Amino acid sequence: MFAKVKPNTQIIGQNIIYFNQVNSTNKFAMELIRQKMAENGTVVLAEYQSEGKGQFGREWMSNAYENLMFSIILKHVTNAPPNPFIINKTITVSMHQCLSKLLPDSQIKIKWPNDIYVDMRKISGILVENNFSGHHLNYSIIGIGLNVNQDFESIKDLKATSLKSKTGELSDRPGLLKQILEQFETNYLQMNTNSDTIEKLFNENLLGYRETSEFDIHDTIEKARIVECDKSGRLILEINAEHKPFLHGEIKQLIHA
Ligand code: BTN
Repeated sequence: MFAKVKPNTQIIGQNIIYFNQVNSTNKFAMELIRQKMAENGTVVLAEYQSEGKGQFGREWMSNAYENLMFSIILKHVTNAPPNPFIINKTITVSMHQCLSKLLPDSQIKIKWPNDIYVDMRKISGILVENNFSGHHLNYSIIGIGLNVNQDFESIKDLKATSLKSKTGELSDRPGLLKQILEQFETNYLQMNTNSDTIEKLFNENLLGYRETSEFDIHDTIEKARIVECDKSGRLILEINAEHKPFLHGEIKQLIHA
C-alpha cells in the first residue's frame, strides 16, 4: 500500500523503506546511518513498532495499520550544517500546515517543543534525533507519529485525538504521507535561506503564544506568558515582568482540555 507512494519531491521520500513491523523506525534509521547506508531524504515507515520511541525515553504506542509512523533521514552535506532546532521547527511547522488544511474547522496548535494539538488534544508527536561527528551535525532523523484512523472518541481518551476522531471518517494514509513529505520538502528547501519564515510560523502557532498559561516549573505551578521560542529552541517565558529561558524538560505547560 505504501510502496506505491511517489511523492512529488526531489529528495524527501524518493526512497521509502516499508516494514509491517520493526522495533522503531528511528532506531532502524540510526542503524542505516551507522552502516553508512543512509541516503538523504530516505523515509523508513512501519505499520507497527514494538519499541516505538517517544520524547524523554518514553514509549510511543500506536495501533497497527491505523496510523502513520515514519522517520525521515536528513544528511547534512554542507560545511555549515543547520542549527539543530531549525529542523524541529521546520517539521513541526510542516505538520501544522498539513493538519490545518485537513481540519479547517479545528484549532491546530504547536505545543512546545514539537507536539501538534487539535482542539487541545495531542494528534502528533515528533522525535528528532541527531548524529554528530565531534561538533559536526552529520545526520538528523525526524521521527513522526500521527494518529490517523485510531478511534480515541469511543475510549473517551481526553488527552489524544486522531483525524478519524475529528472527522468521523477514515483517511487515506498513503495519500496523507505523500502530502506530509511534499509539504516538508517545500519548507526543508528553504530552511537555511528563509529560516525567519519558519521561526515566525512556529511562534505564531504556539499553543498559548503571548498568552498567560500555567506551567509546572520545578514542581511549582506558575502562571507565565509565552514570549517566544528562540533560535536555540528555548521557550522564553515572562514571569513577574522578567524574561526567562527554559530548556525542554525543565518545564511542563499544563493543558486544560
Ligand atoms: C513524542 O513523544 O511525542 C514523540 C513521538 C515520536 C514517535 C515516532 S513514531 C515514528 C518514529 N519512530 C519512533 O520510534 N518514534 C518516532
